[in-house]
Amino acid sequence: MAKLIRFGVSIEANLLEAFDRASAAQKYANRSQAIADLMRNKLIERDWQKKNAQVVATVSLVYNHHRREVVNKVMDIQHDYQRLIISTQHIHLDHDNCLEIIASKGKARDIVGLTHRLRGVKGTKHVSFTATTSGKQLS
Ligand code: NI
Repeated sequence: MAKLIRFGVSIEANLLEAFDRASAAQKYANRSQAIADLMRNKLIERDWQKKNAQVVATVSLVYNHHRREVVNKVMDIQHDYQRLIISTQHIHLDHDNCLEIIASKGKARDIVGLTHRLRGVKGTKHVSFTATTSGKQLS
């Protein structure tokens, strides 16, 4: 466990009240926990924006599996990027639609490249990208 430090912050009362209400709604145990989470999010964001930073990310996509050319292209792209991909989960959403969640690890710019290739496949309905961190730099 890292050493804890107390520090003082001057902030507008209205902003703090709104922050405390939002934190309570999100079930944070206390204000310190909520602020620490904000700080981590900020650091993660900064981390991943450095293009060479190692990140962990999920790429999610939804497509109609009846369109075989889409299925084939999505598969080809994943093989092209197999060194980045840890695992892929395939969920049959309904009769027509499939969701794939791709867990990946590598350089941010390479994972962004994978995301752009998938977005470029005509027929994908949605491709989203969420970057996080390996956590090594954060306690
Ligand atoms: Ni499916």
